[in-house]
Amino acid sequence: MSNIQRNEALRGEITVPGDKSISHRAVMFGSLADGLTEVTNFLQGADCLSTIECFRSLGIEIENTPGRILIHGKGLHGLQAPSIVLDAGNSGTTTRLISGILAAQPFETTLTGDASIQKRPMRRIMEPLSMMGADITSLNNNDCAPLHIKGSRLHGIHYHSKVASAQVKSAILLAGLYADAETKVTEPVVSRNHSEIMLRYFGANVKTEGTTAHISPEPRLTGQCVRVPGDISSAAYFIAAGLCVPGSELLIKNVGINPTRDGILRIALAMGGNITILNENHDGEPTADLLVKYSRLHGITIKGDIIPTLIDELPVINIMAAAAEGTTVIQDAAELKVKESNRIDVMVENLTAMGADITGTEDGMIIEGGKPLHGAVIDSHLDHRIAMSFTVAALLAKGETTIKGRDCINISYPSFYEDLETLRR
Ligand code: S3P
Repeated sequence: MSNIQRNEALRGEITVPGDKSISHRAVMFGSLADGLTEVTNFLQGADCLSTIECFRSLGIEIENTPGRILIHGKGLHGLQAPSIVLDAGNSGTTTRLISGILAAQPFETTLTGDASIQKRPMRRIMEPLSMMGADITSLNNNDCAPLHIKGSRLHGIHYHSKVASAQVKSAILLAGLYADAETKVTEPVVSRNHSEIMLRYFGANVKTEGTTAHISPEPRLTGQCVRVPGDISSAAYFIAAGLCVPGSELLIKNVGINPTRDGILRIALAMGGNITILNENHDGEPTADLLVKYSRLHGITIKGDIIPTLIDELPVINIMAAAAEGTTVIQDAAELKVKESNRIDVMVENLTAMGADITGTEDGMIIEGGKPLHGAVIDSHLDHRIAMSFTVAALLAKGETTIKGRDCINISYPSFYEDLETLRR
C-alpha cells in the first residue's frame, strides 16, 4: 500500500507501453506461423508473460530480450503436448484464445489461472468450440477454469454470439484455422478486430462483413515483424488525468487508435474534452499522438454500439464522469460484471467511499458529477484497471488516498506509477 495526494497539474510528454491485446496475439500467431516472428514494443505485463509461458510449455522457443521478442514458430501443426498444466494467470485473453487453438491439437491439455480467472465465465467459448466438435470440460463443473481440452477434428460453423466479445470471436476464428470448412462468427456489435487484422497479416484468409467475421481453413501462416502500438487502454488514465486535473497539458505519444478501440476519445470529446489528434499513421494498426488539455467536462449518456470500443476504459470514464458537471448514464455494459472484478459493484463501492454520487444499475451506472472527492482507502480487488482508475481519482481528491493491492497494475502497466511521477511537477 502507499498513498497518493492531490496534484496541482500534470505536464509533459509520455509514451505508454505496448497494447496488451495485440501483444498476446503476436505471441500466439507467431507460435503458429512458420519461421521467425519479431515483435517490438511488446507489453512486458504479467498477462502477456503468461501467454509466452503457455507457448513455451507447448514447445515453442521464445526469446524475450530487451527491445524485442523473437518467436521461433513451428507452424499450425507444430505445438507439442505440454508436460504441465498451462497457467494463464489473471489473463482472460490467454485463457479464451488459447482454448480455440488447443481445441484442434492432437493432444490433451489442462488450462487454469488465478483465483479471478477461475471465476470468469468460460461457457461463452465452451459452447461454440463444442459445436465445432471440441471436447472441452470445466473440471469443477462450474463453466469456469480449470478447463480440460481434448483436441479433436473441428467443423466449420456459423456462430451467433450473444455477447460482443473479441475473446470469444478470436477463439472461434483460431479454431476455424483448423476446421474442415469456413467458420463464421456474427456478433451483436463489432468487438475489437485485432485478430482479424493480424491473422490477415500472417497470411490467413479472414474477411469481415458488417458484424460477421469469416475465416477459411488455412494450411500455413508465415512469421512476420509486428510493431505493437501503445495501448489506448493504458493511455486512458493519462487522458482522464490530463482532462480532469486543473492546469494539465499532456502529449501522449504513439497511441493505438483502431476504431474498434477508440471509444474513449469519442466520449471524451463529447464530454467537452480538449484533445487534439496529431501525427496519425494508418500503416497497419492506426496510431496517433494525443495532446490533452485540462477541460471542464459535462456528463453524457454512453450506451449502444460504442460500449465494446471502450469497455476496458469504463472504470476511468466513471472517474471523468464524477469530475464532470451533470449526469452521466452508462447503459448496455453488463459485461463489466464479468471482468477481472465486478466493475459495476467495485466502482460504486470505491467512488462512494470518495464522496461521489454513483448508483449501480443492471447494465451500468448513473453518476451525478461535480461532487467534491475526498481521499479514502480504496480496495482494488486486485483489478489492475480499478487500481489505476482510482489513482486518477486520488489526483482529484482532497486528502490522501490509499489503494490496497495496487501492485496488480503489473498485469497491464508495470511502470504506471513511475510514468505518472514524470508528469507531476
Ligand atoms: C480483449 C477483449 C475484451 C477486453 C479484454 C481484452 C482481447 O474482452 O475486455 O481486456 O484482447 O480480446 P471481451 O472479449 O471479454 O470483451
